[in-house]
Amino acid sequence: MEIIFYHPFFDAGTWSRGLKQRLPQAMIRVWQPGDHAPADYALVRSPPVEMLQGRNDLKGVFALGAGVDDVLNQIKQHPDMLAPHIPLFRLEDTGMVQQMQEYAVYTVLGWFRRFDDYQRQKQQGVWQSLPNYVRQEFTVGVLGAGVLGGGVAESLHQWGFPVRCWSRSPKQLAGITSFHGREQISTFLSGTQVLINLLPHTPDTVGIINRALLNQLNDGAFVLNLARGPHLIESDLLAALEEGKVRAAALDVFNQEPLEAGHPFWAHPRVAITPHNAAVTLPDVAMDYIANAIRLRENGEMPPGRVDIQRGY
Ligand code: NAP
Ligand code: GLV
Repeated sequence: MEIIFYHPFFDAGTWSRGLKQRLPQAMIRVWQPGDHAPADYALVRSPPVEMLQGRNDLKGVFALGAGVDDVLNQIKQHPDMLAPHIPLFRLEDTGMVQQMQEYAVYTVLGWFRRFDDYQRQKQQGVWQSLPNYVRQEFTVGVLGAGVLGGGVAESLHQWGFPVRCWSRSPKQLAGITSFHGREQISTFLSGTQVLINLLPHTPDTVGIINRALLNQLNDGAFVLNLARGPHLIESDLLAALEEGKVRAAALDVFNQEPLEAGHPFWAHPRVAITPHNAAVTLPDVAMDYIANAIRLRENGEMPPGRVDIQRGY
C-alpha cells in the first residue's frame, strides 16, 4: 500500500513514522512536485493540484482537518483535480469537539460573568461591582449543529444556558431548540444574546454574519467566530461594535490569516483574538482515525467523514 502525504506545515517525520507504526504494510512518502508514482491514499491539506490530478487509482483522499474548504476551492478551480469516483474524507471530532467546547465555555462564561469588563476596570484602577446578567436571558445560538456545533451546544446547555442551534436539517439534541433552513434563521436570531459560528465555509454560508444578521440579535450581543474568516463581514462587525449592537467579539479565524498588521481588530478593546487554533488536529488521534479508516476501506467498507463535494461539506 502506497500513501502520499502533503501538508504545508505539519512535521512530515512525525506523520510518516506514526502512520508506519499503525499501518506497517504501508509505504509512506512525502509528496514532492514531479512525483507521479502510484498511490493508494493521499493525506493532504491545501494540496497542490498536481499532487492529485490524474490519479484515478486512489482509494481515498484524507483531509487533515475538519474543514475541507481549502481542498474544495482547489477542486472548484481545477475540476479535473479529483476524479469523481475518489472519496474525500475529513476528520470528524479527533479531539476537536473537546477543544471547541473548552474555547466556547471559557468565552461564554467570561462574558456572562463580565470578566472582560473587570479586566478593563482593572486597567483603569476601578473597583466596582457591575450588574450580573440573568442566565435565563443569556441565550446562546449556535450556527451549525454538526460534529462541533452540536458538541458546543451540548456543553453550554450543561452550564445551564438556554441554547438553540441552526442547521440545514432539523436536529434532536436534548434540551436544545433546533431551527433549520433560511426560513427559520430570523426566529433563531431573535432573542439570541451570544452567537457562535460553527458552520462550514461553503458558497451558501460565505458572508452570512453580516449587518442584516447582526441587527437581528439582542442589543449588546456577543459574537464568537470559531469556523472560518469568510463567514464574517469584518467591517459589519466593526460597525456593530461601534454602535453597541454587538458588545464584544472573540475571533479565532479571519479573512486574511495571519491577521494583517494594523487591522482594527488588533487594537480593538472589545475584540479578543486567537490565531486559528480553537481546535487543532491532534496527530496521534488523527493518525489512529485515518489508519482505522484505511483499514475499513481496504475491507471494502466506507469510512465515516465522507465529504459531499456538491454540498460543500
Ligand atoms: P459538520 O459536522 O459538517 O457540521 C456542519 C453543520 O453546519 C451541520 O449542522 C450543517 O447542517 C450546517 N450547515 C451547513 N451548511 C448550512 C447551511 N447552508 N445552512 C444551515 N446550516 C448549514 O462540521 P463540523 O465538524 O462541525 O465543523 C464545522 C466547521 O468548523 C468546519 O467546516 C471548519 O470550517 C470549522 N473548524 C474550525 C476550527 C478552528 O480551529 N477554528 C477547527 C475545526 C473546524 P446539517 O447538519 O443539516 O447538514
Ligand atoms: C481547522 O480549522 C480545521 O478545519 O480542522
